[in-house]
Amino acid sequence: MSIELTVNGRAVSVSVAADTPLLDVLRNHLDLKGSRYGCGLEQCGSCMVVIDGKADYSCVREISAVAGKRIETVESLASHPLHQAFLDEQAGQCGYCLSGILMSAKALLDRNNSPTRADMVTALDSNLCRCGAHPRIIRAIERAAAALREGARANDLREGARS
Ligand code: FES
Ligand code: FES
Repeated sequence: MSIELTVNGRAVSVSVAADTPLLDVLRNHLDLKGSRYGCGLEQCGSCMVVIDGKADYSCVREISAVAGKRIETVESLASHPLHQAFLDEQAGQCGYCLSGILMSAKALLDRNNSPTRADMVTALDSNLCRCGAHPRIIRAIERAAAALREGARANDLREGARS
């Protein structure tokens, strides 16, 4: 069947079986290899993407269930403050779980650009990472949040100057 959805701001149409996992479509039909396959069981978070603003597991979401929805993958973060913040803090090590972690962080910052540490830990609850990078990951999210707040403040000032 033909399914339409929006991926990283681009309208796409894919012809696949209705029960094809979203992760399979992203990686093998749309050539977006940043989202990883880990467990396939909603246990590790390496496949995490953002679906209509919420972090979700792409390994188990059937493509028919996300028809018409807005999907964001790690490839959309090239110019997002999270990207630079994770580089600056050297957050994460293996690169396998990192894209899922980034997308959980993106969903958090989209709804709250002043998260507490507890908010961040809760947001990352579904992402397994065993390398001990958690303190750096948290610092990177704090750094990205600060950059987002600064950007919002600059925007407000510009708007104020115009009115
Ligand atoms: S691959 Fe989806 S949660 Fe592990
Ligand atoms: S970043 Fe992959 S195990 Fe920590």
